[in-house]
Amino acid sequence: GKDGYRHYMEKELHEHPVVIGQTLQRIIDPVTRQITLPDLPFALEEIPRAVITACGSAFYAGLVGRYWLEAEARLPVDIDVASEMRYRNPPLSEGGLGLLISQSGETADTLAALRGLRAAKQHILSVLNVETSTMARESDVTLGMVAGPEISVASTKAFTAQLSVLAALTIAIGQARGAIGPARQQHLIACLLDLPSRAAEVFGQDEAIRAMAQVIAEARDVLYLGRGICFPVALEGALKLKEISYIHAEAYAAGEMKHGPISLIDRTVPIVAIAPSTILFDKTLSNLQEAKARGGRILVFTDAKGAARLRDLAEIVVVVPDVDAFVTPILYTIPVQILAYEVALLKGTDVDQPRNLAKSVTVE
Ligand code: M6R
Repeated sequence: GKDGYRHYMEKELHEHPVVIGQTLQRIIDPVTRQITLPDLPFALEEIPRAVITACGSAFYAGLVGRYWLEAEARLPVDIDVASEMRYRNPPLSEGGLGLLISQSGETADTLAALRGLRAAKQHILSVLNVETSTMARESDVTLGMVAGPEISVASTKAFTAQLSVLAALTIAIGQARGAIGPARQQHLIACLLDLPSRAAEVFGQDEAIRAMAQVIAEARDVLYLGRGICFPVALEGALKLKEISYIHAEAYAAGEMKHGPISLIDRTVPIVAIAPSTILFDKTLSNLQEAKARGGRILVFTDAKGAARLRDLAEIVVVVPDVDAFVTPILYTIPVQILAYEVALLKGTDVDQPRNLAKSVTVE
């Protein structure tokens, strides 16, 4: 049941802290604080490169995975949505990693991409929630998220669980490749283990999120901006808003705004920025100044330090706990998904069963 929540989505949003914790517990040894992967039929240090593929939100999790694997594990990564990857037929040398991400493990395009990667002699590693699924059976190894059943069509907790697994996998691969030393490894693991508590704190910000929702519910179009590792969080926010509130939203890498979408901006197009005060903050800040100069209403997810610098610029700020840049995509996803939920409530849509959508897309 919904345990007293109005919708499964609301219940599942509240499960984020527990699900992140459980998922990490399965993959990080509590005593040694080392990543413990299931037995692999291949050596992580011998993988030359990875191909990541998935659909929808799972694809956005994969995009975060690319940033992590490239920047931290120094592993070359190619990524595409599964509906493209399955027909791209990229030239691949044997022994690479095919990394599939799927909540259900039944998505038709992702499954077809898995089979294509297997035919190209890649090692198949799947990040799945349903461990009895078809993709689980057809993978060399499955890394389970411990998200429990996700009923709401809009994915919530499965997304942060996917990210948690990908973060741990990044650390394991980085270690195996010698790109992550023991001190960096312990730092990253500490950041991950701290996340469930930080995630629980996000729910204290519901008033600011509801204020943002009021602005967005009036809009016909919304622009989400993010940079680097938080750009996929902007994509996730825009998808979730479209899915359940039927408001048109697009996400752009903040630096791309002046290459086109800036022409859309006026008072009727709110700008939602995912902007932790990490290294790219100043760049995003100047993008937001440009948007504001054109009349845009600026709504920002940031930390306390960022909030202080946005005082004159932003109309509404949601203050997210201060965390290391590495884990920002996991933490910032939560308020961004809550925002979509609050807008859908204002719009009175069928939150758990949005029109035209199925939980699991098992046809092409
Ligand atoms: O079961 P999967 O993770 O393979 O599903 C992939 C997408 O269909 C899914 O993430 C979809 O985009 C969600 N409705 C997003 O909220």
